[in-house]
Amino acid sequence: MSHSDPTAMRPRRFLPAGPLRGRIRVPGDKSISHRAIMLSALAVGESKVTGLLEGEDVLATAAAMRAMGAEVERTGADEHGGGAWTVHGVGVGGLLQPQAALDMGNSGTSTRLLMGLVASHAITASFVGDASLSKRPMQRVIEPLSRMGADFTASPGQTLPLMLRGAAPAVPIEYRLPVASAQVKSAVLLAGLNTPGMTTVIEPVPTRDHSERMLRGFGAELTVEEGVDGARIIAIRGEAELRPQVIEVPGDPSSAAFFIVAALILPGSELTIENVGLNPTRAGLIAVLRQMGGDIAETNPRLVGGEPVADLVVKHSALRGIAVDPAVVPSMVDEFPALFVAAALAEGRTVTSGLEELRVKESDRIAGMAAALALAGARVKETEDGLIVDGTGGEPLEGTDHRGAPVATHLDHRIAMSMAVAGRASYHGVEVDDTRPIATSFPQFEALLDGLTA
Ligand code: S3P
Repeated sequence: MSHSDPTAMRPRRFLPAGPLRGRIRVPGDKSISHRAIMLSALAVGESKVTGLLEGEDVLATAAAMRAMGAEVERTGADEHGGGAWTVHGVGVGGLLQPQAALDMGNSGTSTRLLMGLVASHAITASFVGDASLSKRPMQRVIEPLSRMGADFTASPGQTLPLMLRGAAPAVPIEYRLPVASAQVKSAVLLAGLNTPGMTTVIEPVPTRDHSERMLRGFGAELTVEEGVDGARIIAIRGEAELRPQVIEVPGDPSSAAFFIVAALILPGSELTIENVGLNPTRAGLIAVLRQMGGDIAETNPRLVGGEPVADLVVKHSALRGIAVDPAVVPSMVDEFPALFVAAALAEGRTVTSGLEELRVKESDRIAGMAAALALAGARVKETEDGLIVDGTGGEPLEGTDHRGAPVATHLDHRIAMSMAVAGRASYHGVEVDDTRPIATSFPQFEALLDGLTA
């Protein structure tokens, strides 16, 4: 679904509120949900997925796999209200020519991973998306996939809409990632699935490894070795046969992030968030918040869908500003908007750097959060690759002016949710220009937040 129509914007003022107490469960992990649908659609036979995130981004992936021949159906809800889905796959190499353009909505993950899949199939697909996605750089996947033999006709600046003619057979490559990007890594590995021989991705800085874990779980031959320079060398044998699986998707740490930060900054809070994915390649925010003095305990650790998971107990804490080590950026790349809100309420200065990639997310999240927080009364300074935030030491933010302009979210779900949390920790509330993008990753967000503060 596209939220590009400005006349249909859904503004909302998020009012100050008391502590967050009780237990919640966040929806399924977005990254894992995309991969569960894609790999199930490439297995031979019937896979079952529970806990699937039913946000618009994942639904775009499901629709695209259907358009390329897989049967992807919602069969009901699991015991926690997550989606229960059944997928009949077409087998690696079996994707069919889609009859219409694949509408990727707001979803960069759908776009880049699916480009990888299509690149090694003998089909042609057009990819279109909303205003935000149509600005995002695709050269980073076009480049390696072209080397594998795929052919692209993109819009100026190597953006969407674009047309991709896959190559069959594709050519295996060895590719060293020039940017730390799990999407680029995954695009090449997924293309490698239907490419004869070994396709290798060298990752100098580790990024989320859900693709590697799940490809192995489906029976692909995939190895991970450490190179002399400490890089991860990931190799996949192509023309793989994937076996159908039963997958339980763990809760999304990137969605939990908003409630973790809210509970830390709202006095009197004690919130349990169940079933949060704690894959080390995703858990950077929790480590950073603990460094800032955040009281976040893990209980009931277990494995769900091959991923480490625990329940988190988060208590209000007096946070202190820190200099965030840029080495943690890949393990919390989507969590900086939430971290900036925590920093705005902390005592002292928080300095972040190495965040260039944030400028090419659903929006420019450095500029967007700098403007949003400043409008809400926080003291922030934008740098080329980060934000410097001088916190209030726990004092609520002023909030946005009732007669002034609302915070601009730029079709970015994470800016909308971060500023909703900031509104809770303000004197006058924070007005957000458009809450519709929240549905891309966390449709239940407002109901959960309202339920906790009712
Ligand atoms: C994702 C990877 C990250 C992240 C995105 C999801 C994934 O993007 O920001 O929300 O599922 O692989 P990059 O690969 O561009 O860093």
